[in-house]
Amino acid sequence: MTAINHFQAFEKSVRKVLQEAKTEKEIVTQITPYFQLLIEKEGLIPESYKKPKQDKYRQYLLYKPQDEEFSIVLFVWGPGHTAPIHDHLVWGLVGVYEGAIEETRYKKTLSDQSPDDVHLEVINTVTAKKSDISFVYPPNADIHSVRNPYKDTAITIHIYGTDIGKQKRNSYQKETYAVNPIVTPHENEVPIYQ
Ligand SMILES: [Fe+2]
Repeated sequence: MTAINHFQAFEKSVRKVLQEAKTEKEIVTQITPYFQLLIEKEGLIPESYKKPKQDKYRQYLLYKPQDEEFSIVLFVWGPGHTAPIHDHLVWGLVGVYEGAIEETRYKKTLSDQSPDDVHLEVINTVTAKKSDISFVYPPNADIHSVRNPYKDTAITIHIYGTDIGKQKRNSYQKETYAVNPIVTPHENEVPIYQ
């Protein structure tokens, strides 16, 4: 099978899950085994899309159906590249295709002493290596940051329940809980596979 066939087969499984699952947590749980099979396929990413930029991660649209029920996105993380603390406001899964990344999870915390003191608290930081999968869904599992602290380029494949390149969402400051609205467009409008 060629790469496009793998994405088309995966789309069938995703649509079945979306018909049957009742919550965003169920969606990510039920998509996980199909996503695992997808990200373990060789040759999904053309070599020309694996080259990192100097200053920031690359974000390419890999596959998106016409109705935008979901999008599959490719991220290329050069050494030291970081995605600051952000949410998604939609379900999503992140799989490591090559290399490794570090992911830190946060939760919103209110101070007992001062009701105005809202900040983000770190839940945990994990290293994700080739074939590892993590997921996000609002409201309680949605805020994280990602970085590549290693010397090799990391490549990750993500799926979200909308076109994440158009999604209005937020970045955060950890100490003050200052919220900034963001949209992070893809570098390409036409998917690599369609
Ligand atoms: Fe994210």
